Amino acid sequence: MARTNFGSKLGIIAAAAGSAVGLGNIWRFPYELGQQGGGAFLLVYILCVLLLGLPIMLAELLIGRMGQHNVTGAFRSIGHPRWRFIGYAGVLCSFLIMGFYCVVAGWTIEYIWQAITNQFADKSTADLAAAFADFSTRPIRPIIWMVLFVGITCYVVLAGVQNGIEKSAKILMPVLFVLLLVLCLRSLTLPGGLEGVAFLFQPDFSKITPEVVLSAMGQAFFSLSLGMGCMITYGSYIDKKNNLEHTALQVTGLDTLVAVLAAIAIFPAVFALGINPAQGPELVFITLPNVFAHIPGGYIWAIAFFMLLSIAALTSTISLLEVITAFMNEEWKLPRRKAAIIASCTIAVLGVFASLSLGLLKDYTIAGMSFFDLLDNFTAKFLMPIGGLAIAVFCGWVLDRKRMEAELSNEGKLKLKYLKVFAFLLKYITPLAILAIFIDQLM
Ligand code: TRP
Repeated sequence: MARTNFGSKLGIIAAAAGSAVGLGNIWRFPYELGQQGGGAFLLVYILCVLLLGLPIMLAELLIGRMGQHNVTGAFRSIGHPRWRFIGYAGVLCSFLIMGFYCVVAGWTIEYIWQAITNQFADKSTADLAAAFADFSTRPIRPIIWMVLFVGITCYVVLAGVQNGIEKSAKILMPVLFVLLLVLCLRSLTLPGGLEGVAFLFQPDFSKITPEVVLSAMGQAFFSLSLGMGCMITYGSYIDKKNNLEHTALQVTGLDTLVAVLAAIAIFPAVFALGINPAQGPELVFITLPNVFAHIPGGYIWAIAFFMLLSIAALTSTISLLEVITAFMNEEWKLPRRKAAIIASCTIAVLGVFASLSLGLLKDYTIAGMSFFDLLDNFTAKFLMPIGGLAIAVFCGWVLDRKRMEAELSNEGKLKLKYLKVFAFLLKYITPLAILAIFIDQLM
């Protein structure tokens, strides 16, 4: 099959931002922030985005567009086949992320259902917490939603790059954005909400521990879809006229904005309603249904919100499945259809275990973690940062500087504003920072 490109500039940004913006911003970021010291975490997170995320985002888009192939093929086609290992690790990482991500995405479908059947009305915080605990530990119901979600993802990936991915992202991302703004306003105006603002924006520096820094780094990689070749794959669909520097800046900026908005929508409400900010993965699912009860027309808002959250998750799972599909298709010469279906079935099996590990199988732990947490932690706090390190070293030290410049400037047609900064970050700061964060953990 001939490779198709994203159709327009807006389409590129919508697709890449669609990959980045997802459950990572609205589900994972707030709960990590709540558990890891609030404002202090936010501050370290922003530093990670600037020093690690942004340069690696550009590096991945650059490698992808230069290589015009899947995650492993890209390294071969730019003449550095040994660096293919980044791609293999990336494909593995895609499977592992999908394994738990689709479980959470399934929860969002359950919550659409609960919103439609008006199950949030008149419930106290304790009731909502109990309802979540009951649902997420059940053996069958979450698995059905998870499998449905994997199926939908597979369907869109098969509809092809332009039709499926681009069109849906272009319309729905802006709507989600507006809805988040409304939620922010409501949350901020709840009595007692200001305490949440202080929690977010008055960092307590004594809370910055090695664990907080590692979590913030992991969250930055996770949220920006970096370190495992997702943006390499999407970069390969970007046409040669696009300004990659701008695209990297815009996608990184949008993703961070959505994460911060999600935090502003959630934390004032958390404090106003007396919810524990360190609640964990259920934080969003307990807090926001509660907020909807305090909004006129909350019934409709709740349905709209959980539908958009599902769709934000979908544009992310699409990108993860696309990494695997493009790889199997180009490297193993499987038809795209076959590749996507085989990958989806494997993911569903992982998803079954991830889901059961929260209920039926919760006594079986690996290194003290449920299978669900293991997938989450091993990818975000280990595989992705290692992948990011390798990508930074590759761009900073191995890839010929002239070729990099030519690719970024579209063969000299664009004036590069930040090339020197990026090159410096990729060569020294980004790799050293990742290493330092790992070493800090070990000591
Ligand atoms: N970034 C997405 C989110 O925030 C999830 C995601 C999509 C992802 N593709 C990825 C995470 C690749 C890591 C790597 O929800």
